[in-house]
Amino acid sequence: MTSPDTIGWGIVATGNIARAFAADLALLPDARVTAVGSRSLESASAFAAEYAPGATTYASYGEVADDPDVDIVYVATPHALHYTDVLRCFDAGKPVLCEKALTLSARTSAHLVEQARRRGLFFMEAMWMRCNPLVQQIRDLVRDGGLGRVVQVRADLGFAADLPPTHRLVDPALGGSVLLDMGIYPLTFAHLMLGDPSTVHAVAEISDRGIDLNTAFVLGYDDGAVAALSCSTTGWTPCTASIAGDAGRIDVPTRFHCPQRFNLRRGDDTETFTLNTHGRGYTYEAVEAMRCLRDGLTESPLVPLDDTLAIMRVMDTIRGQLGVRFAEDDLTL
Ligand SMILES: NC(=O)c1ccc[n+]([C@@H]2O[C@H](COP(=O)([O-])OP(=O)(O)OC[C@H]3O[C@@H](n4cnc5c(N)ncnc54)[C@H](OP(=O)(O)O)[C@@H]3O)[C@@H](O)[C@H]2O)c1
Repeated sequence: MTSPDTIGWGIVATGNIARAFAADLALLPDARVTAVGSRSLESASAFAAEYAPGATTYASYGEVADDPDVDIVYVATPHALHYTDVLRCFDAGKPVLCEKALTLSARTSAHLVEQARRRGLFFMEAMWMRCNPLVQQIRDLVRDGGLGRVVQVRADLGFAADLPPTHRLVDPALGGSVLLDMGIYPLTFAHLMLGDPSTVHAVAEISDRGIDLNTAFVLGYDDGAVAALSCSTTGWTPCTASIAGDAGRIDVPTRFHCPQRFNLRRGDDTETFTLNTHGRGYTYEAVEAMRCLRDGLTESPLVPLDDTLAIMRVMDTIRGQLGVRFAEDDLTL
């Protein structure tokens, strides 16, 4: 560690989310970006100049993992590359916070989880939604019976995007799939409230390159609850969520996955809960990862690896129903 109190972060890749995450890390007094890796030194240097002055810059990702001033690596490459990039960090003995989706399939994700556990290394999916204090409050309210018996969850995330064919959202070689990129949020939200579904049914518009662009899926649960979830890169969907129980309802307004407000309705009463988000909302996952490192935990109780794997398995089922396949599905592990 760079000092007894400061945790040194290595950043792998310099794209959009890496910039947002690094900007939020700068708000945390006990975090410092000590190394930045990119496919090009120019990009690493430009990134460091803006977000991490003084960080060592590398024209590779592996050198970030090997840097002794790096306590934890944040992997922010497109998800088709996560499997290789995370394994490289584990080989260097480094803990990892890896962007969602963890990999492209439950099989490769399970392999990474197994490697982390075998080596005793901290590993966490950067599912920032789960670390948001309001989402935790919603989860606690639901689990404590605040809505009575939960019977329905509804959530969606979507926007209309005119994307070039090389964009990671639509390029199968980079793990393009609206399900993996955006559908993972409604799915994780439903899983937080209801757990593992017993049935899954999906429909989608599929691109001429074989990946889903506009996807809806319903989940059924043994106790009779249902979830209706969707995601899109072709339309401006509301991006809201709601949870209905027999004693009340929670409504989360737009950008439900990083909420600043939600309403709890019970009978004629409506209570509003609000949050002044710290930074853009990525601070919460960084704080959680650092808390785990300091406490000697190898997994976050807020983002359990078993939940990440359960969600990957549901996405496998949905992909199977839609016929969406990636080269990683044939990878020999
Ligand atoms: N938590 C969130 O809110 C959130 C939001 C957006 C995305 N994400 C996740 O973060 C990951 C990255 O998304 P992003 O939006 O940051 O993507 P992006 O802007 O396209 O950046 C990805 C970066 O990965 C590196 N890279 C390595 N090989 C690449 C290749 N063959 N093609 C393109 N880039 C390559 C590049 O960095 P270098 O040139 O520096 O090597 C590139 O800048 C994805 O897994 C995504 O699901 C999370």
